[in-house]
Amino acid sequence: MRPAAGALPSPGTPPPPGAPGAPAGTAAAAGGATRGGITIRDASKSFPHPDGTEVPALSGVDLAVSPGEFITLIGPSGCGKSTLLRLIAGLDRATTGGILLDGRPIEGPDAERGLVFQNPYLFPWLNIEDNVAFGLKARGRFREERALVPRYLELVGLGRFGKVFPHHLSGGMAQRASLARALINRPLVLLLDEPLGALDAFTRMNMQDEILRIREEERITMVMVTHDVDEAVYLSDRIVVMTAGPGRVEQVIPVPFARPRARNIPDFLRLRARILEILNFAGRIEEPAYQI
Ligand SMILES: Nc1ncnc2c1ncn2[C@@H]1O[C@H](COP(=O)(O)OP(=O)(O)OP(=O)(O)O)[C@@H](O)[C@H]1O
Ligand SMILES: [Mg+2]
Repeated sequence: MRPAAGALPSPGTPPPPGAPGAPAGTAAAAGGATRGGITIRDASKSFPHPDGTEVPALSGVDLAVSPGEFITLIGPSGCGKSTLLRLIAGLDRATTGGILLDGRPIEGPDAERGLVFQNPYLFPWLNIEDNVAFGLKARGRFREERALVPRYLELVGLGRFGKVFPHHLSGGMAQRASLARALINRPLVLLLDEPLGALDAFTRMNMQDEILRIREEERITMVMVTHDVDEAVYLSDRIVVMTAGPGRVEQVIPVPFARPRARNIPDFLRLRARILEILNFAGRIEEPAYQI
């Protein structure tokens, strides 16, 4: 296994799960969860190009995610973030290497691994209740587990909106519904591919808190793709910074702050600045033209 570089030790702060002391790329079980650990071993994925060559989307990814851990994947467009989520979801197979969930190889899609996308993809002809119930029906569990529908609508704050159709919901509400639809299958792992990317900044920050609250209640592992550095620092136990050409893990950065977190404290801003530097987005001014 290639050691993950770049843990950011922060003087005076206690080591977070997976920080120094733990083997590289691993973290202690978080939030009391005992299942939902993911092991990614030297995973590579390439896709055939129409010109007959292969496009290497991912190369040699090693990562161990602990049960209940919150991991974000961040990196430039095309660095393989969605590809990695699809491999964990079992929607694609790695070209080489493998992925295990609690020690079992992932060989295809399964309700134990829920997926939420940037677009909520609700069925427009079904009301919210029926959208959320869809997974139960598809798995033949509706008769026994129908009581879960109001429970999960409540969990995401849509208790009063079960009879409403998707086109009557705001973007944030629609994304809550798609979270409920994934959670009702009681996955061990929730995979989130830029789930808040289409929301306005205020709704987005509210939804970040909602996601943390849901994680607390459900005690599940979350792996989330984002392009938003603040979001990554606010939410994550560890941030996986990826680079493109081919996609690989550049650094794994523990976030050593207790929750709830404040976005405006110096430690938070320092870590944010560090990640922007790694991503080459920190910016630079030759000579300050103004003073504040
Ligand atoms: N089904 C596919 N067939 C061919 N190439 C693909 C396929 N899926 C992804 N790729 C290629 O793999 C690489 C990684 O794509 P991926 O969608 O994982 O990137 P990403 O990091 O999620 O990007 P973005 O931030 O834009 O969503 C890209 O070069 C992409 O063109
Ligand atoms: Mg993507």
